[in-house]
This record gives sequence, C-alpha cells and structure tokens, in this order.
Amino acid sequence: MTVAAQPELEDLEVRLLLEGIFRHYGYDFRDYAQASLKRRIRKALQAEQIRTVSALQDAILHDEQAMRRFLDLVTVDVTAMFRDPRLYVAVRTSVIPLIRNEPLIRVWHVGCASGEEVYSMAILLHEEGLLEKTRLYATDLNQSLLDRGKEGIYPLSAMQTHTGNYLAGGGTRAFSEYYAARYDRAQIKPWLKANIVWAQHDLVAGASFNEFHVILCRNVMIYFNRSLQDRVHRLLYESLAPGGVLALGDKESLQFTPHEAGYESLDRREKLFRKRK
Ligand SMILES: C[S@@+](CC[C@H](N)C(=O)[O-])C[C@H]1O[C@@H](n2cnc3c(N)ncnc32)[C@H](O)[C@@H]1O
Repeated sequence: MTVAAQPELEDLEVRLLLEGIFRHYGYDFRDYAQASLKRRIRKALQAEQIRTVSALQDAILHDEQAMRRFLDLVTVDVTAMFRDPRLYVAVRTSVIPLIRNEPLIRVWHVGCASGEEVYSMAILLHEEGLLEKTRLYATDLNQSLLDRGKEGIYPLSAMQTHTGNYLAGGGTRAFSEYYAARYDRAQIKPWLKANIVWAQHDLVAGASFNEFHVILCRNVMIYFNRSLQDRVHRLLYESLAPGGVLALGDKESLQFTPHEAGYESLDRREKLFRKRK
C-alpha cells in the first residue's frame, strides 16, 4: 500500500513505525506534529526507494544506518549564523544589561543543530566583553549535528550570508576575525569554542541539568504537538533562573502555554521573555 492511498492505514503504519523506533532505539517522535512528520516519512520512503511505511519500519528496525538516515531527515537542521538578525540586536540591548553583572553566566542553546546559533552568541558575548565568564551549553537530539557544531567548519560560500546577518544583528567588526578561511571552508577560531559544552540531550525524555540565565529554544518546538510543547515549556521554565530570559523562534509564542503567566515580555516582536522573579 503506498503512503497516500489509504489514509487510515497510513496513520496506523506511522503509529507502528514510531512505536517501533521508540522501543528499539529510544527516540520518541510519537508527539511530534503529525503533518510535518508525515512529510519527512514520505521523503524517507523516496530516499530509501521503499513503497510502504511498514517496509520502512522493517528497514529501520533491522539496520542502524537506515535509522541514522531517518534521524537526519526528521531532525530538520535549517539554521544560520545570526539567523533573524534583529533578535541579536534585541539581545545586545535588552538581555546583556540583565546578565552583565552575573559572576558566571550560563546560556543553554536547546536544539542547536550544527552550532551556528551558538557561535553567533559566543561572538556577541565576546564583543560585550562577557565570553570569558560565560558557559554556553549546546544540546541537540542528533549527535551527528553536534559533531558538526563542535568541529565548527562551515562552507565558505555561506559566510557571505552570515556576514550580512552579523552586520544586521548589530555587529560592528570584521566578521572574518572569527574564522580562518581554508580553500572552500571557514573554520571557527578555537578561542571562540573554549567555553562551549556540546552534549546530546533529548527534550522529550531529558531532565533539567542546570539553572540558566538565558535559554534559546528557537525553531524546535514548531515540530512538536501541543502536549509535547507544554511539557518542554515546563522543562525550560524549571531550567531558568528567576529573572532569566527565554528566546523563542520568530513563529513561536508563549500564548496559551501553561507557563505564560510565569513570564513577562521583554521584547514581544523578537520573542524574548523574562521569567518573573
Ligand atoms: C530547525 S533546527 C533549529 C536550529 C536553531 N535553534 C535555529 O533556530 O537556527 C531544529 C533542531 O531541533 C532538534 N531537535 C528535534 N527534536 C529534538 C529533541 N527531541 N530534543 C532536542 N533537540 C531536538 C533538531 O535535531 C534540530 O537540530
């Protein structure tokens, strides 16, 4: 049975696939938003040249490499340095004054993908004179994305866009100070990496592991259904220090979440929220 032919059967096959993956590998996609998850599953069928979701399940359960490829498809890794540049202007003007006097600043990048967001923040903190007393915790579900982040090597061709974002995000220096260009690759300078801790962390199952002054969880929960979003909001709320700041993605909101009243808006347009003390 092909995917679109019988919707009820498709739903059943998808449920069984997700249950199988959870039980065998521990990745829990059962509360991801269905529409986008199904689009990813269809892509996996095309890529694996498999006709049915049941056959995909068979392939994934018996072949770890097939699971790895599926994970890469499900974990959407779209990101960029200084993505949504105005956010970084808002961080410079509204967030930095709140954290400047902390003896040790802790920032958590939740769902950091291949690290561009983390290096953007490290650059900003360096320019504010705060990088040395900051620990940046960069976590993601997908270890291969984290490996790329830790390596800090990006295509040189992307640097033009990144430089434009950096300038629009309030950067005033030469962006090329932050990487070494070699052939067609840009390597992030080692000193920018020194205070970053990279770790695999699953938002579905993972617990809070520290108390943070700033948490960025941008463009991650858009892939989750409402009940998982609510659970993750609880985790983020519990992981923030009183007065700490939460940054969401530009299409995300705190409205109607269980913790809406626990925050005040710091910058409504840039989705910056401050946990009430
Ligand atoms: C679109 S990227 C967002 C990257 C970055 N935050 C940004 O806004 O540019 C979404 C990231 O969420 C991660 N992710 C998805 N499910 C997750 C989970 N259960 N726990 C932790 N990270 C997850 C994916 O692996 C992916 O790297």
